[in-house]
Amino acid sequence: MWTQGKVVKRIDWNDELFSLFIEAHIGDFTAGQFVKLGLDIDGKRVGRAYSLVNAPDSPLLEVLLISVEDGKLSPALNQLQPGDNLNVSAKASGFMTLDWVPEASHLWLMATGTAIGPFISMLRTQEPWQRFKQIVLVYGVRLAADLAYEQELRSLATKYGERFTYIASITRESVAGALTCRIPDALQQGLLEKRAELTISPEHSQVMLCGNPAMIADTQSQLTARGLTKNMKRKPGHISMERYW
Ligand SMILES: Cc1cc2nc3c(=O)[nH]c(=O)nc-3n(C[C@H](O)[C@H](O)[C@H](O)COP(=O)(O)OP(=O)(O)OC[C@H]3O[C@@H](n4cnc5c(N)ncnc54)[C@H](O)[C@@H]3O)c2cc1C
Ligand SMILES: NC(=O)c1ccc[n+]([C@@H]2O[C@H](COP(=O)([O-])OP(=O)(O)OC[C@H]3O[C@@H](n4cnc5c(N)ncnc54)[C@H](OP(=O)(O)O)[C@@H]3O)[C@@H](O)[C@H]2O)c1
Repeated sequence: MWTQGKVVKRIDWNDELFSLFIEAHIGDFTAGQFVKLGLDIDGKRVGRAYSLVNAPDSPLLEVLLISVEDGKLSPALNQLQPGDNLNVSAKASGFMTLDWVPEASHLWLMATGTAIGPFISMLRTQEPWQRFKQIVLVYGVRLAADLAYEQELRSLATKYGERFTYIASITRESVAGALTCRIPDALQQGLLEKRAELTISPEHSQVMLCGNPAMIADTQSQLTARGLTKNMKRKPGHISMERYW
């Protein structure tokens, strides 16, 4: 079921990467969930899933999008300006939330591209800070200009000190302070654990993976080799994930 939404603000991180702030009445949601956004294109409703970036108690919906080359919907969403209407699913859905993550000492959040969004939503709530001693956020992008919400992430690092490690992995240019390889390679080479000064293990770690499906598959297989298992409803494990395509 759709409800009408209205764009009230946008942030352009670069020409292709943008955040939309949307006024719409949807029911309650949990950080990590997504809504569908829809537009009528050539007389047909085209709807796609987009994770919410806002914390559940904030009045506007916020989404982070990239305009996919030759994509059906995302280039059209990139044309929207404040005042424009769009369709929003009346309810959020999705299972990549902390509700399904068992207790552990360390929470590892690993995202490529726009999949940083649901993790920002979680970090804007109190829950991860109350439940985990240490949180590590790994954000993989092609270029430094693709890093959205960097200032907010750096502020969290300042606010939480040793409890929060933010690791940017920028694969197509060399940037001081950032890793330069893809997330699974960084994991394999021990670079993530070295930066965080933590070891990933079934005893201490919960890992959430979001975004590029190939990143998720490669990272999952490495974690599996270390004894971590997928979190399932009836059989809790250590790895939770959401593929964006
Ligand atoms: C649960 C879920 C949550 C999602 N949340 C977001 C989000 O917060 N922000 C966001 O930008 N997208 C998100 N997506 C992807 C989004 O739903 C669309 O697939 C995307 O916007 C492309 O739609 P399109 O109609 O423009 O492209 P289509 O014409 O449908 O073409 C799809 C193709 O584009 C590529 N593609 C799709 N999404 C991406 C992406 N994000 N990055 C790189 N390549 C991609 C894939 O090759 C895919 O097969 C999410 C997807 C899922 C399943
Ligand atoms: N980002 C841009 O500059 C840009 C500009 C215009 C349009 N777009 C559109 O946006 C879409 C999404 O681009 P995006 O940059 O957000 O997402 P992306 O292509 O998924 O890249 C994000 C990060 O994931 C890495 N990655 C890609 N494949 C991987 C794999 N198999 N295993 C592990 N890591 C992997 C990338 O590394 P690599 O760099 O090594 O691939 C990059 O660091 C593109 O398909 C394109 O249509 C992007």
